[in-house]
Amino acid sequence: MADETDIESILHEKRQFAPPEDFAEHARVDAKKLKSLHELAATDNAGFWGQMARDEIEWHTAFTQILDESEAPNYRWFTDGKLNVSYNCLDVHLTERGERIAIRFEGEEGDTRKITYRELHALVCRFANALKAQGVETGDRVVIYMPMIPEAVIAMQACARIGAIHSVVFGGFSASSLRDRIEDAGAKLVVTADGGRRAGKIVELKAAADLALDGSCPSVETVIVCRRTGQAVNMKPGRDIWWDEVVEAAPEDCQPAWIEAEHPLFLLYTSGSTGRPKGVQHSSAGYLLNAKLTCRWVFDLRSSDVFWCTADVGWVTGHTYVAYGPLAAGATILIYEGAPTWPDGGRFWKNCQRHNVTVFYTAPTAIRALMKLGDELPAQYDLTKLRLLGTVGEPINPEAWMWYRRVIGGERCPIVDTWWQTETGAIMISPMPGATPTKPGSCTRALPGIDADIVDASGEPITKSGAGGYLVIKRPWPSMLRTIWRDNERYLETYWEKFGNRYYVAGDSAHRDRDGYFWIMGRVDDVLNVAGHRLGTMEVESALVAHEQVAEAAVVGQPHDIKGEAILAFVVLKGARPNGSDAEALAGQLREWVAEQIGAIAKPDEIRFADNLPKTRSGKIMRRLLRDIGRGEEITEDTSTLENEGILDQLRKKVPKVPGT
Ligand code: WTA
Repeated sequence: MADETDIESILHEKRQFAPPEDFAEHARVDAKKLKSLHELAATDNAGFWGQMARDEIEWHTAFTQILDESEAPNYRWFTDGKLNVSYNCLDVHLTERGERIAIRFEGEEGDTRKITYRELHALVCRFANALKAQGVETGDRVVIYMPMIPEAVIAMQACARIGAIHSVVFGGFSASSLRDRIEDAGAKLVVTADGGRRAGKIVELKAAADLALDGSCPSVETVIVCRRTGQAVNMKPGRDIWWDEVVEAAPEDCQPAWIEAEHPLFLLYTSGSTGRPKGVQHSSAGYLLNAKLTCRWVFDLRSSDVFWCTADVGWVTGHTYVAYGPLAAGATILIYEGAPTWPDGGRFWKNCQRHNVTVFYTAPTAIRALMKLGDELPAQYDLTKLRLLGTVGEPINPEAWMWYRRVIGGERCPIVDTWWQTETGAIMISPMPGATPTKPGSCTRALPGIDADIVDASGEPITKSGAGGYLVIKRPWPSMLRTIWRDNERYLETYWEKFGNRYYVAGDSAHRDRDGYFWIMGRVDDVLNVAGHRLGTMEVESALVAHEQVAEAAVVGQPHDIKGEAILAFVVLKGARPNGSDAEALAGQLREWVAEQIGAIAKPDEIRFADNLPKTRSGKIMRRLLRDIGRGEEITEDTSTLENEGILDQLRKKVPKVPGT
């Protein structure tokens, strides 16, 4: 574990911004409302959520029990209620908002589509009927491996409509990552596309799916392939069918399946500190409730808004703030297929102008990358329709926050820095834009009903301002994960055991300032956050040792000014340690190898070779030492246990990158 005992506050940010008056005046939640929500939640937490669930969700069968703690920490919410998530995202709008745009789409090449709520309802129903015709039943798992096109959301909503459990796999993951996820979920059907467009290139999704399925994944009976790029792909007879063909005969109406509140809506695989990625399992009602509420509270969403959350549906942000929350709230969403810098770094701002985006939500890594390109690009576009900006995924440095506010928000838009996780399902700690004064770099306070705190290693709350500790959530909340798919032990171990099942342990460290504002400091486990994406160091290490020449590997994160963290891998080979151009060539090969094993996001930024790795007497790799070496810092750790101190010089030695890799 890194920095367990001495995580100390490092930031001293003094700037503060009150909510703009005109925003506060019209906000769904103003200071008075926020106070009353907090009071209500503090007096009767379960009662508060019960009321929210009755107000925000259309139930088919009303629930009588709010929270079931009998199997804590496997909490259950609204258990005897029945509902359908897709019904709550689509059908509820048909009478009053059927002709409003639900989805605006922009392809990377500039092609656009507009889909009204009524049309989206019909598209979802047809695909739901097609899934049924392929034998998919309530509770079956469907893996979705798609580009960022409306069909990705249609497929997710269609699963929800019939009670099938979807597991979306990010299109940037490799065939072998896809295979692992399909196998773990035991998926019956895979939805993919011929390809997707990204940064002027074609992402070969169908080819990767073929590779994943070839000779494995016996549970998969059918692969539905959406035509996007029109390129030639292999279609395996008896297994593969085109999307357009399956929906052709499908009726435009599909009765929603009325499922129980706790029925799993989806699995989403995410990285932990040990082992393979785990299938985080979410519920239907509790998840929907927080997804919708946070859209209304934090993004102040209304049906007149065009909300652009730039996340891919392969991540949780793309689930909660693309596929579900904003549709439940009746807003218009923008889906953009491609890269932020294609054909140039003005693309995000051009999209905002073209689609009249009013609320924009992205990751600090994107803001930092675009900030580097200067103020001239955004200045070419009309961004005056924007009224609110958000960030998620990693701590935002105050400099990037200030740039976002000034250049993108015209000093007019409030910024919501939202802290949450795949496991929490929805935003947990964030300003309310019309009520909470903001400070650059702080996600401010927990939302009403969310009991967040910071505790020390013995689980005692830390009251001293500025002192770091473990971020925990002290009460269950509706959108919390329910378990790890097929591995409840791992659920208990990862999130609850550290403090005797009393608190949900987020795995982040944080501190609070004098005003009680939270400042997230980063992970306390061996999880990296590279460009806002979670990656386990162990996953990268296992990929490396799977290479025939590698005996051992240790991976650590390094500060990176755009990506937040970069990946540094120390590698011990089975044969002799390479030098010069041999080292360069092998480092290049290993980087590519990791990209093939996991996906391009996991490609190490740097690889160094050594004869062995520094270990403690008990055989544990000294990661902290490796981190310090990577940063070029002076070594303060005790290195007397090292068999060979000369190893330190090897570990310090950089291998120059092969040009073009
Ligand atoms: C980090 C993404 C600082 C954190 C929704 C968390 C953040 C992990 C913030 C979850 C934020 C997320 N400030 N750090 N506003 N939001 N994180 O599961 O380390 O992909 O544990 O969910 O991202 O990443 P995940």
